[in-house]
Amino acid sequence: MADILILNGPNLNMLGMREPEIYGSDTLADIKERCTKKGQSLAMTIEFKQSNHEGELVDWIQNALGKIKGIIINAAGYTHTSVAIHDALKLHDVPIIEVHLSDPSEREEFRHFSYIEPLAKAVIKGKGANGYSEALETIKPLI
Ligand code: DQA
Repeated sequence: MADILILNGPNLNMLGMREPEIYGSDTLADIKERCTKKGQSLAMTIEFKQSNHEGELVDWIQNALGKIKGIIINAAGYTHTSVAIHDALKLHDVPIIEVHLSDPSEREEFRHFSYIEPLAKAVIKGKGANGYSEALETIKPLI
């Protein structure tokens, strides 16, 4: 497996056409390409995945146990709802970085709470697709 597992939650497969005024015009494929290049420049291999399904994300987090050095996660809507993803991430002792394209704390009240945040070494939000590159830079010295 790769050094860094980058996980993306529901509806992020629709980036590019999904509320571009909030999330920008980059597609998830664009972001994946940028992460791959950024990873190469930082001498880290990455695995970049997206699912609309909570259980699939939980499976991927479990399957990575003992095989990776760090996790970067944009759990999207599950950020604000998923005890299951929180519990799966808690199985790991590798650094976790939480990423959001938008800044959920400046949006609707229901986006203000994050189940990921208590487990994250850093939360990078409101920086669009650049936030993923920043997350890779942030995780590098931690692994
Ligand atoms: C998001 C913010 C979440 O509140 C939202 O549900 C998403 C995307 C972001 O990247 O800004 O789907 O995680």
